[in-house]
Amino acid sequence: MKRFKTEKLIFRIVPIQNIFFFLTVILIVDSISTLTAGSAERQETPTNRLVIHTDKGKYTISRNIYGHFSEHLGRCVYEGFWVGEDSPIPNTRGIRKDVVEALRKIQIPVLRWPGGCFADEYHWKEGIGPRESRPAMVNTHWGMVKETNAFGTHEFLDLCEQLGCEAYIAGNVGSGTVEEMQDWVEYMTSDADSEMANLRRANGRDKPWRIRYFGVGNENWGCGGSMTPEYYADLYNRFQTYVRNYSGNRIVKVACGPGSENYHWIRTVLERAGRRMDAISLHHYVRGSGNWTRKGSATKFDEKEWFALMKNTLTIYPLLENNIEIMDEIDPRGRIDLFVDEWGTWWDVEPGTNPGFLYQQNTLRDAVSCGIFLNAFNRHCRRVRMANIAQTINVLQAMILTKDEKMILTPTYHVFEMYKVHHDATMLPVDIDCGDYQYVEGKVPAIDVSASKDKSGIIHVSICNLDPLEPANVASKLLGTKPVNVSGRLLTADDMTAHNTFNKPEAVKPSVFNDFSLSDDILTIKLPAKSVVVLEIR
Ligand code: AHR
Repeated sequence: MKRFKTEKLIFRIVPIQNIFFFLTVILIVDSISTLTAGSAERQETPTNRLVIHTDKGKYTISRNIYGHFSEHLGRCVYEGFWVGEDSPIPNTRGIRKDVVEALRKIQIPVLRWPGGCFADEYHWKEGIGPRESRPAMVNTHWGMVKETNAFGTHEFLDLCEQLGCEAYIAGNVGSGTVEEMQDWVEYMTSDADSEMANLRRANGRDKPWRIRYFGVGNENWGCGGSMTPEYYADLYNRFQTYVRNYSGNRIVKVACGPGSENYHWIRTVLERAGRRMDAISLHHYVRGSGNWTRKGSATKFDEKEWFALMKNTLTIYPLLENNIEIMDEIDPRGRIDLFVDEWGTWWDVEPGTNPGFLYQQNTLRDAVSCGIFLNAFNRHCRRVRMANIAQTINVLQAMILTKDEKMILTPTYHVFEMYKVHHDATMLPVDIDCGDYQYVEGKVPAIDVSASKDKSGIIHVSICNLDPLEPANVASKLLGTKPVNVSGRLLTADDMTAHNTFNKPEAVKPSVFNDFSLSDDILTIKLPAKSVVVLEIR
């Protein structure tokens, strides 16, 4: 069945704009072939070729691409972030210290809240004031459980301050009113002597918060009101009018965009409301070969299911490219950002847990999928200016799982930690000329890559080997620089289903990677099967 076939050049980032460029790349790739040809017979695996244009960086990889999302869903907010001030679990004003510390380590840049589908059922005034007098509600979307409203606006913004990250609030369009949305923004951000600002002061917060990102609705084509794009665009125009900038606060207004491939939605909303928005969202969840009813197990799977996730994850590339093409057409100046504000893997819930709580484990397979997603966002950072993985704790592709006072970090957390070197760095275009990872009748490119140069000139390259069985040799040429010093980190495990548990919390964790060599300006890397590697090149 294996594996390598004659390569075909894949240009995902740099379009072939002229014949000169095309010839240059052929010459470079050819020179790598020549340099590596002598050793080809001795290699166990064929060589993939990578060209990194270290002198062609133009766009910044916004740190917000490494953003997160937390909904009132299952045990994300309650038990995940919030344990309450009286809990024996160490906390600061009710917020778990261990999760704050772990998320600060990955330099969480932005946190989206309170949903998700919950956002369009949330009435913020029920979540302020003395906790004992806040009314309870039923979380009708997620498990019909009681929502005490103990965690509300003040608690969320305290959490963001403890994390040192920006707040991204999702407002209620589906079941809320314009007045309610206007009041919320005024309550949080106004320094005036006004009813809402004075209510905030009465609730213990004198100075307004600075709120940077505000979403006008969530999935309004579905759980957020089952609207048509025309109807939503009209509502967006109306609601956003009252999302005011108070007291010097400047809000980035985010319109609800499509879920996966719904190009009619994004086109219509952009055409009708584009000039009144700063960003538009995109949601994209992936799974194996299952469907929404049977998505497959997070931990019990074979190569067929591994392959299916790799293939489905790679759909992020055409999805971004097609949406960006529409945006470029309607907004040629590139004023509107694309926020992929929900993304990740979605599996069947862990056996015995509430199906409405979306609690899933997280294996090496999720980590490789995450590496591919982040590479795709990095490479499309011209438009993708924020992304928020779903969801931070105990829900879907989480960073952290908790059980009472215990907390573990998932393989996905480790990818975010390894990739943080890309935050606010300059994206470097790459040309990849690689073999396939082939499974039965299907195939996908065996490796996926992104690269950046940080402010001090250090180059970072993140590479995923999608093949769960075969290592991959990569011959890389860095155009525009002469590498002198290389170091690396690796995330892999013996088994593709490897994951961390409360008994074995470190089954999957990063290690030092040094399976590379530098000669004649060619950096040859030997990636283990099913791995994520981040290289630092000076
Ligand atoms: O993240 C879980 C749910 O997925 C969100 O609430 C919703 O926006 C999406 O459908």
